Amino acid sequence: MSTTTTTTTTTVLSGSSQNNDASYVPRGPVEAELTFYVPPADGTTPFNYVEKPPEGQPERNFREALHKVQLTDIRGREDEYTLDRDAFQVLRNVPSATTYETFNSDDDIQRVYYPEVEKLLLDTVPGAHRVIIFDHTIRRENPAAHRQPVNRAHVDQTAKAAEARVRLHVPDPAEAEELLKGRYRIINVWRPINGVVQSCPLAFASAESVDHDADLVPIEHRYPHRTGETMGVKYNPAQRWYYWSGMGNDERLLLKCSDTQEGVGKRVPHSAFVDPRTPPGARPRESIEVRALVFG
Ligand code: OGA
Ligand code: FE
Repeated sequence: MSTTTTTTTTTVLSGSSQNNDASYVPRGPVEAELTFYVPPADGTTPFNYVEKPPEGQPERNFREALHKVQLTDIRGREDEYTLDRDAFQVLRNVPSATTYETFNSDDDIQRVYYPEVEKLLLDTVPGAHRVIIFDHTIRRENPAAHRQPVNRAHVDQTAKAAEARVRLHVPDPAEAEELLKGRYRIINVWRPINGVVQSCPLAFASAESVDHDADLVPIEHRYPHRTGETMGVKYNPAQRWYYWSGMGNDERLLLKCSDTQEGVGKRVPHSAFVDPRTPPGARPRESIEVRALVFG
């Protein structure tokens, strides 16, 4: 009998077997496969079309490569990571008036959740004096969902795209020019909406471990009526990747995508990943990320 117990334990630790309890929440270090950017073979400017590409054009012209990456669980060491150094930061025990239903309506999200995010950013980000929330995305790990988790390492904006966002979302041009003279950041506030994450968590690489010139590549992000710019992430074994196991509805992950301040960690590459430990029957991840310009 003791032999059986030993065998089972060994199998679980080796990661070659899944935990079959559907309520199991994977925790601790894990090796996972992430998708990285590889430049177009012909040396042309990388692009992707947000909606249907024009006749004869591919949806994207760059390539991708899978790499196995060791992910460190920051659970229990949350306070060691900061927006200024790592370009990510987390918050626990965040009160909220939202319910699962709130996230079924864009109006309710803007009415109930946006003010909470605005206050959270003003309270958390040192120096912040103004927040403009410009976007949100609900993602559901479900083939029928409008938006799915993103299994590709990326940064949402380049510095150029962040500047364009200021001009786009500050209605008064004179005020926009004034705000552009000071420090501004783009910060995403990410959380699950359907309870503790068991499946498809988000991985993120500390800005401190990223070679921002060599590892990050601007990609034209072509919308029907304007072109934004995102960043692809090349694989580099020096990058330190993390995740936050079992994130709950009352927890928030702040992902900084852009910062005009010199001498700080400017942006955090991130990607959803398939966790090999996720049990059969686990709850599919559902989440919201809110994107905000943070001034000051
Ligand atoms: C983001 C993001 C991907 C995901 O919040 O910016 O890229 O799978 N999210 O939630
Ligand atoms: Fe993103």
